[in-house]
Amino acid sequence: MYCSCKIFSFLYCFLMFNMGFSVHSSRLAALLCLLSMGGGVWCECTEDNVQIEGGDYKLTKKLESGSLLIYNCPKGFYPYPALTRLCQANGTWTPAPKRFQPQRCRIVECPDPNVLENGNVSPPQERYFVDNGTSYECYFGYTLRGSSTRVCLPNGKWSGSTPICSHDTGDNCADPGIPPGASRSGNTFGIDDTVEYSCNSNQFLVGSRERVCQANGQWTGREPACYYKHTYDTSLEVAEEFGSAIKDSLTILEPIDDTQEGRTIRIPKNGTLNIYIAVDISESIEEKDIQDAKNAVKQLISKISSFVVNPNYEIIFFACEIFEVINIIDFWDDKISLSTIKEKLETFRMGDKATAATDLNLVFKTFMERMTFIKLRVGEEAFKEHYHTLIVFTDGAYNRGGSPAPTVAKIKNMVYKTETQEREQYLDIYMFAIGAEIFDDDLQPLTVGTGGKHYFRLRDIENLQETFDEIIDEDEVKGLCGLHVEYDTTERDAKQKMYPWMALVAIQNEDPRKCLGSLVSREFILTAAHCLKFGDLPEHVRIEIDDGQGRVKKVKTFMIHPKYNVTAKVDKKVNKFYDYDVALIQLEKPVQISTSVRPICIPCTVETRNALQLVPDSTCKQQEQLLLKDHLERLTFLTRTENIVDEKEVHAKLGTNRDECIRHALQAPGINTDVVTDVVTDNFLCTGGRTPFRDHIACTGDGGGALFKNYEHRTIQVAVVSWGTKTLCRTGGVIESDGTSRDFHINLFRVVPFLKSILGNDNQDDYAPLTFLES
Ligand SMILES: *[C@@H]1O[C@H](CO)[C@@H](O)[C@H](O)[C@H]1NC(C)=O
Ligand SMILES: *[C@@H]1O[C@H](CO)[C@@H](O)[C@H](O)[C@H]1NC(C)=O
Ligand SMILES: *[C@@H]1O[C@H](CO)[C@@H](O)[C@H](O)[C@H]1NC(C)=O
Ligand SMILES: *[C@@H]1O[C@H](CO)[C@@H](O)[C@H](O)[C@H]1NC(C)=O
Repeated sequence: MYCSCKIFSFLYCFLMFNMGFSVHSSRLAALLCLLSMGGGVWCECTEDNVQIEGGDYKLTKKLESGSLLIYNCPKGFYPYPALTRLCQANGTWTPAPKRFQPQRCRIVECPDPNVLENGNVSPPQERYFVDNGTSYECYFGYTLRGSSTRVCLPNGKWSGSTPICSHDTGDNCADPGIPPGASRSGNTFGIDDTVEYSCNSNQFLVGSRERVCQANGQWTGREPACYYKHTYDTSLEVAEEFGSAIKDSLTILEPIDDTQEGRTIRIPKNGTLNIYIAVDISESIEEKDIQDAKNAVKQLISKISSFVVNPNYEIIFFACEIFEVINIIDFWDDKISLSTIKEKLETFRMGDKATAATDLNLVFKTFMERMTFIKLRVGEEAFKEHYHTLIVFTDGAYNRGGSPAPTVAKIKNMVYKTETQEREQYLDIYMFAIGAEIFDDDLQPLTVGTGGKHYFRLRDIENLQETFDEIIDEDEVKGLCGLHVEYDTTERDAKQKMYPWMALVAIQNEDPRKCLGSLVSREFILTAAHCLKFGDLPEHVRIEIDDGQGRVKKVKTFMIHPKYNVTAKVDKKVNKFYDYDVALIQLEKPVQISTSVRPICIPCTVETRNALQLVPDSTCKQQEQLLLKDHLERLTFLTRTENIVDEKEVHAKLGTNRDECIRHALQAPGINTDVVTDVVTDNFLCTGGRTPFRDHIACTGDGGGALFKNYEHRTIQVAVVSWGTKTLCRTGGVIESDGTSRDFHINLFRVVPFLKSILGNDNQDDYAPLTFLES
């Protein structure tokens, strides 16, 4: 974006000019002008006539010269006729507001679907708007590929995929179809035949303009799409397309395990991968925007690190100048760890240095300098084994340094050399066009690389962290329990991703109850036995897990630990005895695993062994030693709040600390014995109190939830929240313990046989069993 830094550094005085705009207005407009050091006069813009009907706007630099006015409309609408306005030095906006064409929010339109060949589109309309549906039918003898119905989406694209009516012509390639809004030249699809696309006048083409039919029956490039200025890619699209493209170009440097099948190793083991990331922050108005950019970059490099081992990074932010966060040259002296990079990003401050322009060319020049340095350092020959991936986030508005295109051409030259062999795979340039007004014509030609899509168009940087997060190869991680993401946001969806195993349990009959539970496999919820009472039927149990297939899950059956018996010790003056307070609830249908729905790890399984990075012949005992190792172990459980759920932090008192902790169980109501082991068996973990740390205390409704520990970004459940000595909180929330209040939790390591008998049962074909360790 045009620079948002100070152009005029000294202001002598304020001058009030009275200037008449006699053309459109007889009113005298007061124009506030300022005299600069250089002697030039600049004026503030006014907010006259810039208002937008049905929307609002923000200003990047108030009404000062260089300020950008950015319009905002509700979802499904876009600002019209202007997307943004720039305040010029003489106090006028460009484009100027037009009195007879007032600024308003216009409904989003989708490109014309009536380009289908050999079929009908219904309903036929001149124009199609958000939520308008269409359906497609082929003429007799033609077969439909793609979607038979599509809906116009709020981002200006049609849902689904391009419908194509074709019949077998014996051609080498299949009919590549015509995307909405486009026209195609080329109607034969034999080897080396070329098709060429163009878009209707008010749209532009993103993707391959030209495609050639290859001998293998595939078209080169990718299907293009016609975009309006108001068309954006959704997070999901970016995640899918960038995910597959980047995986293509980054496929692991060194396989973690040589025996893994199906992984194409594009980058040879001795190759080096250099990743250059640049983020344009000139349109950032608030500190939050910068934080969003930092988070997105952090997330991006975390993702990259899951595909490749040890790439070298260059990371820069740019506005009026280059702010270098990570210099790739540093990687030649030391291997810099991922956590150091993240730390540097986090502690990086922009300061308020100021120059006068946005120079995208300088970004590419900086990257090229680094490449030149690397080449000198490693030598001509070794440089040939270097792979370069450039990822740039910008809206493409540069006002100094000229077009970066020649620099990109030089970079290509440098990497491709004059080799006879194909060297295209050594260089990828991804452009993320971000902003209210994007300079597509300047940005799209800067992309480089074969295979997947390299150009993405986004409204803002806000959701990028989540977007990159979606880039998980689900096949690779399907079996991974306890995988979760750590967000700093408070959004509803964020909680589901932080605790993707969380299940809300409710019993709905004459005696309604609420509990928590945890997803421990695709079919089972682990909870406390006390949540289920005699007389409860599966149909009374309501499980909430939102996996996109309906929030409320039907329950098939539930199993309570056979040794659970609340009244077992009434004769020993223990009114309620909660030993073995665990139960498993089986769902009618397995949940759909995704970033926001995924099982937690439970003790003594092979999955947990891998999560804890223990060797194959390690034992269950070793897992326990790792997770409950000290005299004190910091653990967490969840509680329902208006914020969906929040964390409660506790310290399990183990070893020599345990006796003092469990002693307080004798003070609980309904306990009239003084034999503490009659109340608290070895199966319980004890938390609460104020020493050495002030713990949180469980509230009604927290029961059945997971007491868990995070280990290397994986979550392992060690216990189930069972009962407490005091009711300090009837209403719930994050409440601190007093000196004597204690909570007790069933230690899962003590109920492994029960878990294994059900979850590990491989004598059934009702559900996929978990693999438990032999010992
Ligand atoms: C203000 O400056 C712009 C750009 O320099 C120029 O095109 C425009 O005519 C000027 N307007 C007035 C009212 O002077
Ligand atoms: C298409 O959308 C427009 C704008 O919302 C609406 O007025 C029109 O009725 C819709 N047409 C159909 C066929 O749904
Ligand atoms: C990398 O490995 C390839 C194939 O094993 C070999 O041809 C090439 O010379 C090696 N390059 C370097 C820089 O070691
Ligand atoms: C629970 O324990 C009591 C006391 O030992 C016994 O009478 C009762 O039968 C037990 N209930 C179950 C369901 O086992």
